[in-house]
Amino acid sequence: MCGIVAYTGPRPALPVLLSGLKRLEYRGYDSAGIAVETQERIAIRKAKGKVSELVKLLGESSDLETSTCGIAHTRWATHGPPTQENAHPHAGGKQGIALVHNGIIENHRALREKLSSVGYVFLSETDTEVLAHLVDSLYQGNLVQALTNALKEVDGTFGIAVMAHSEPGTLVVARRGSPIVLGLGEGETIVASDASAIIKHTRQAIYLDDNDIACIKGSELDIRTLDSGTVVRPASEIDWSADAAEKGGYEHYMLKEIFEQPEAIRNTLRGRLDRDRGNAILSGLGLSPRELSDLHRVLIVGCGTSMNAGLVGEYAIEDFAGVLAEVEQAAEFRYRNPIVNPSDLVVAISQSGETADTLAAVREAIDKGALVSGLVNTVGSTIARETGRGVYLHAGPEISVASTKAFTSQVSVLLMMALKFARSRRMSQEKGRRMVKEIEDLPSLVEAVLAKNDEIAKVAERYVDQQSAFFIGRGYMYPVALEGALKLKEISYIHAEGYHAAELKHGPIALLEESVPVIALCNEGPGKDKTLGNVAECQARASRVLGIVTEGDEEAIATVDDHITIPACPMHTSVIPATVALQLLSYHIARLRGCAIDQPRNLAKSVTVE
Ligand code: M6R
Repeated sequence: MCGIVAYTGPRPALPVLLSGLKRLEYRGYDSAGIAVETQERIAIRKAKGKVSELVKLLGESSDLETSTCGIAHTRWATHGPPTQENAHPHAGGKQGIALVHNGIIENHRALREKLSSVGYVFLSETDTEVLAHLVDSLYQGNLVQALTNALKEVDGTFGIAVMAHSEPGTLVVARRGSPIVLGLGEGETIVASDASAIIKHTRQAIYLDDNDIACIKGSELDIRTLDSGTVVRPASEIDWSADAAEKGGYEHYMLKEIFEQPEAIRNTLRGRLDRDRGNAILSGLGLSPRELSDLHRVLIVGCGTSMNAGLVGEYAIEDFAGVLAEVEQAAEFRYRNPIVNPSDLVVAISQSGETADTLAAVREAIDKGALVSGLVNTVGSTIARETGRGVYLHAGPEISVASTKAFTSQVSVLLMMALKFARSRRMSQEKGRRMVKEIEDLPSLVEAVLAKNDEIAKVAERYVDQQSAFFIGRGYMYPVALEGALKLKEISYIHAEGYHAAELKHGPIALLEESVPVIALCNEGPGKDKTLGNVAECQARASRVLGIVTEGDEEAIATVDDHITIPACPMHTSVIPATVALQLLSYHIARLRGCAIDQPRNLAKSVTVE
């Protein structure tokens, strides 16, 4: 949530800051701002709206072009609406300090009162301005010291970059619960809240740990912890290229990411399937054979799309391995004080690895003594590091706010987990080999759906003008219905709900009428006939039904009003082609409605607040 970029080095800072902000815009895009050093002062420029508005504003400020040190921010509003005043950076005191911040200062009200009582004047409603004034009030010529002391008074989470006019060329950055990565260039450092803003300049990166504070001047770094001395944080290499974060000729990142799925799944599977032994190799899980066979229960936590993937995992783990599995909304996990045993495995699923609720669930599970694993896409992210074990997705950077390739990679890993747990129990080698083959088929199943992109775009035309829609499915298709509805609502703003097909008649059917279509997952598999029965119930209430059906299933095709076909495959793997079909459907509906597909209103890519 929100994006930070900062630069110190020999080059003009502004182009680095603005290109970094562009890259980070998917993290928040309601306002943006920069602060750069000039001879006389720190100059701050801010604009409401997208980074392009800021660029327009800066077109009038050629005096800032030579500055070689600065900080920048793109905002997703928490405290105060998206206005120019509330945009970051915020100045401390009389503009001797400028600061950008991701996260939330929970005790901002008390601090605001205290600072107001000694004469500080607030220009915004943000918690961040409180921090800027607090640093200013404690500043006695040493910015590291002032920020360290300020953060002792702060409750909450932060990723911060701050500069002081009296310490030219110097940035001080700190983190607690909100990521900060330092990109190490030639005589320069590019700071960002996410590696996509630095990849253009360098692949060498240091990820700060919680409670680290770093003083940076050019390429000189001094990293300390907030309560002790200097620490060494190893540099690591970012394993994807700048191209991976580009649109590559596609109109939107979302479409590019949908089309990347065959390759993303191949990368997820690479080296993780043993054909001979009919097993999955997930050494990152770090489970000894004993721990594997003692496994009592698998608890899966996540939010949004990651939670939907978790539900597929629940079904597959129980189905194949006979191990109890439960998926839980990550925020609920922490607050309802769940029962967790040392023989339980908690699997935290997160594309970003930074989702606040999922991270809190991880910490709760660790405190309760469970085995905790991460299933994360972003290497070096907080959840990956705090779980210490797990499986990286290797799906490549996902930029579009709507999660697509992360979901299909997550499901691929969860199917491998189910296989691994099953093979450590009753599943025979022969059945294991069959399942390996089914998982290996996933990329080609996706390719077959992608080949129907034009057809799906045509079907989408018939659903563009609706205000409401229902997605229904049974068994493995139930999570797909949830995910299909989530995708449609977040990018097209059509109200959409996913329901178990049997649940519709327990209430939601009251809403069905001609203008409310139903998208029914009625591909071949257990429960298909019952779902077709539910389709008839919907049609009897005048709803138009779009069916996701198996190629060649004439009965299903004849029953529904419109259809999209997916290749024949077992139900547990059909989750992936069926989801891809719904991703394309949502994408085309949103495109035809003229929506801002990659940056839907009110959303941000990574939700680092509760
Ligand atoms: O990064 P995470 O996987 O932890 O994110 C979880 C959700 O915020 C995310 O999946 C969200 O629901 C997406 N916008 C859905 O497309």
